Amino acid sequence: MTRREVILREMGLTPIWVNHPGVTEATVDELPAPMVATVVSPERSDEPEQSAADREAVIAGLTWDELVASIAACTACKLCNTRTNAVPGVGDRSPSWMVIGEAPGENEDKLGEPFVGKAGQLLDAMLVAVGKKRADGVYIANVIKCRPPGNRNPEPDEIAACTPYLKRQIALAQPKLLLAAGKFAAQTLLNRDDTVGAMRALPAASSQRDGVPIVVTYHPSYLLRSPLEKAKAWDDLMKAKALVA
Ligand code: URA
Repeated sequence: MTRREVILREMGLTPIWVNHPGVTEATVDELPAPMVATVVSPERSDEPEQSAADREAVIAGLTWDELVASIAACTACKLCNTRTNAVPGVGDRSPSWMVIGEAPGENEDKLGEPFVGKAGQLLDAMLVAVGKKRADGVYIANVIKCRPPGNRNPEPDEIAACTPYLKRQIALAQPKLLLAAGKFAAQTLLNRDDTVGAMRALPAASSQRDGVPIVVTYHPSYLLRSPLEKAKAWDDLMKAKALVA
């Protein structure tokens, strides 16, 4: 498969039109329209499988708009069968802070935007409390771009399939700080299998990704269930603010 075909497929812009064998440009005008091109179905067995490494390499070269189109058309894991909308992310594409959550919930799935339900209202309030807004200096995304049915936890294969998108978002956004909201965001960004409590306590040198500091905090949904933990989340926001005003 050529690079062009891989990109088109990754962006969901297939089927690809190809010339019939033996049909030259000279003969095209003489043929009835349906004979000129053939639709290559993605199910055709002679089409080479795209490896995870090829897919990641393609995603790593996408522009913001191509990335959004690719996420919207993604069929890399089973969540594409149950989603209403994929939820790429929202906000400032050159942010100072990038907030990473877990996965879209019911409202996000309906609207195609992250953190629009109750947890989102709390996240917005937390951001406002430190002088930030989701559209201004902040980009918000999730580890997983499609809603897991019934809001179950994301599964390892889903995280693996979606991580190239998150990596590309971070590379394009070049934030000064990553705020990891909850276990799945922190584990994915830090590549660790620890609890939120343990990851919050990591020394600065171990809490970064390619030189970008990562502040781990509790997920807003957890804070709604455990409001006493809000004081710790406030500490995390203060820490983030001290790192990047
Ligand atoms: N929880 C998340 O982690 N992300 C959302 O977008 C909404 C709720």
